[in-house]
Amino acid sequence: MKFKKNILCIGAGYVGGPSMAMIAYKCPDCRVTVVDINPARIDAWNSAELPVYEPGLDEIIKKTRSKNLFFAKDIENQIKENDIIFVSVNTPTKTFGAGAGKAADLQFLEKTARQILEHSQSPKIVIEKSTLPVKTALAMERILASAKGKITFEVLSNPEFMAEGTAMADLEKPDRVLIGSRETQSGLKARAELVDIYARWVPAEKIITSNIWSSELSKLVANAFLAQRVSSINSISALCEKTDADISEVARAVGMDSRVGSKFLKEGIGFGGSCFKKDILNLVYLCSYYGLQEVADYWESVVKINEYQQDRFTANILGSMFNTLAGKKICILGFSFKADTGDTRESPAIYITRKLLAEHAQVVISDPKALKNAAIDLASDKGKISYIEDPYSAASGCHALAILTDWELYRKLDFQKIYKSMVKPAFIFDGRNIIDHKKCFDIGFNVYPIGKPALSRFEDQSSV
Ligand SMILES: NC(=O)c1ccc[n+]([C@@H]2O[C@H](COP(=O)([O-])OP(=O)(O)OC[C@H]3O[C@@H](n4cnc5c(N)ncnc54)[C@H](O)[C@@H]3O)[C@@H](O)[C@H]2O)c1
Repeated sequence: MKFKKNILCIGAGYVGGPSMAMIAYKCPDCRVTVVDINPARIDAWNSAELPVYEPGLDEIIKKTRSKNLFFAKDIENQIKENDIIFVSVNTPTKTFGAGAGKAADLQFLEKTARQILEHSQSPKIVIEKSTLPVKTALAMERILASAKGKITFEVLSNPEFMAEGTAMADLEKPDRVLIGSRETQSGLKARAELVDIYARWVPAEKIITSNIWSSELSKLVANAFLAQRVSSINSISALCEKTDADISEVARAVGMDSRVGSKFLKEGIGFGGSCFKKDILNLVYLCSYYGLQEVADYWESVVKINEYQQDRFTANILGSMFNTLAGKKICILGFSFKADTGDTRESPAIYITRKLLAEHAQVVISDPKALKNAAIDLASDKGKISYIEDPYSAASGCHALAILTDWELYRKLDFQKIYKSMVKPAFIFDGRNIIDHKKCFDIGFNVYPIGKPALSRFEDQSSV
């Protein structure tokens, strides 16, 4: 069958796989191919067990795979055959050299640009889907402009705003699609071509266009603003714990102001995931680079409050359990960085587990989707941790439960049954404020929420 457009995506990760599946699903007359340097990832995309868990993804893959969606390993050949190339490779924080710990590591992106240059035999539109520092397109353009002969490349920025856990719903009904381009004749033409693809299912008023630098910067700023709201509410949760105010009541009262809004005002143990921290640190680096130290310090404090919240949570466990965790069994309920994903990258659970292990606690980890990734993250602590998917078996014989992910199933657990199987006095540390605290206290637990008074039978509640 002859397809109207041939689209390639380089990078078959959490963004590349789902976003291309949605394009293939909505544009049956386009052929969409996804490639990756990791052949095992491609095999997984072609198998029954996809490498990414997202509600609704399985169904869309079943409807499109091998029809107009393909996962392939021959990157060079695919570059030759496709006209529109999305780049969705990872852009982690640099761990070496200048900017280590803050700047984005662009080596994967640059390798991709060079590969596109080397194997292209016809003009291409190259689209940055990865999250990148502002001005990266300039580097891309310079590499691609070194093409000998007449091949032309147009670089666009089309950052992805989907959130893991709701990726398919976000991709199907995005708040907005942002497309940035050079404002030249050829740039505007390429921009229009990409607008046409999204216009198949996204209402015109939700497809916004801008200059390429605004587009690159908007993605970093969007993530920084979301994370800043989390840190803002979490900073106030600390004050609530000192003053007997209740953070849920404060958040509701503040969020009902339509200028503020209620979303992303949920207290907890802080944000995780592969993006927020790395993107804020990238923003911090850019601000410092341009001599804006005050601005850099402002945004860096968002990350510091996030770390503080996790430190407070573990200090509270230690203080409440009589200042020793040595030999005590603690059951961690939830290891993914948020519900409805198996992704554990930068999950607060990693940091909290390590802190508990440092206190010589025995840790049992339970999670419906993330145990495989948890075992990889904590491979260096092998032997000190048990991994048990069933929450009832995991909690049995433990001294405390620590709820670290807001999985729906934890709201509905039979805490009476769990209480019976635990060592007494039994503790619950609800790091996401998702269970009925009063009910658990009445069952017999000592309950420690975030940002509200503890329900405890002991007078000296914690050292924090
Ligand atoms: N995960 C999210 O929720 C999310 C949301 C929006 C934006 N982003 C951004 O999207 C980008 C990708 O994120 P992700 O979560 O999909 O990362 P990921 O690590 O899951 O996937 C990236 C993939 O790119 C592959 N890759 C790296 N270099 C390659 C090369 N030269 N050729 C072919 N393949 C290569 C890797 O093997 C990997 O499979 C990042 O910049 C991220 O910041 C992520």
